[in-house]
Amino acid sequence: MTEPNKEMKMAQLEVSDFAQAVIDRMAECKEPRFKQVMSALVRHAHAFAREVDLTPEEWMAGIQFLTATGQQCDEKRQEFILLSDTLGMSMLVVALDQARGAKALEGSTAPKPTEATVQGPFFWPGAPELPLGSDISGNESGEPCYYSGRVTDTSGKPLGGVTLDVWSGDGDGFYDLQKGGDMSLRARFKTDPDGSYRFWSIRPTYYPVPTDGPVGNMLTRMGRHPNRPGHMHMMMEVAGHEQLITHIFVSDSPYLDSDAVFGVRNSLVVDFPRSEPGTAPDGRVMAKPYYTAKYDFRLVPSAA
Ligand code: BEZ
Ligand code: FE
Repeated sequence: MTEPNKEMKMAQLEVSDFAQAVIDRMAECKEPRFKQVMSALVRHAHAFAREVDLTPEEWMAGIQFLTATGQQCDEKRQEFILLSDTLGMSMLVVALDQARGAKALEGSTAPKPTEATVQGPFFWPGAPELPLGSDISGNESGEPCYYSGRVTDTSGKPLGGVTLDVWSGDGDGFYDLQKGGDMSLRARFKTDPDGSYRFWSIRPTYYPVPTDGPVGNMLTRMGRHPNRPGHMHMMMEVAGHEQLITHIFVSDSPYLDSDAVFGVRNSLVVDFPRSEPGTAPDGRVMAKPYYTAKYDFRLVPSAA
């Protein structure tokens, strides 16, 4: 039997060395950005394990948690997005993206673009295209609300033909995707040439993010509530401008100060005044009380 070649033995790695050893193995990586991201990921993940002095049992529990998170996903349920949302990662990435855009606008005296927030797991592409002014509340629970405003660019130029996707839960806080039926409380509109939009839906209520999976368990163990303040989701797309994914939040909703997914921006909190039965702003005669919400959006030109 030949002696093992002692010269070929690797230098023994100590607790503090493993991260750098992994990073060094990427010497041949041809993708600079991927290498940068993976190096930082390895560095921070190893620092985390060292900081908490992670035990094998805890690491296995973490792997089982991530496995269960993946197993909870299907075409209608995205538990990984929920994990990212509830750990503040989604909003951090949104905020970083907006900060990058704001840098491009540095020096401009124009009003700031509308703030973005999380998309969340309940966007369902392909909502019906409806004429402005349509009522999308159907037979769903909730109090009627008239939404209106304008979409402009940051210099105030009206943006006509913007595709405006809107979606919300019902008056009890449940989305169509959770109820298992057809699409409801969602639609796509096109803004008028003067940038205006208007439609009827319901005044959204606060609701819990899905808690029947591993992320719900995590929130409970963290001592956190799962609720989001009432909001209407809005997504805007038009050629020549950055896509905007945002919400408007109901100003008197509970949980504005402790949104489970950290999505609230002060500039997106809007009053929803209540009106007694009578003629609504679009001339519709309402037999019961209704609410109105008015909000103008500013999109960033793509060139910026
Ligand atoms: C939502 O607003 O629909 C939502 C966002 C993040 C996680 C869960 C729900
Ligand atoms: Fe939502």
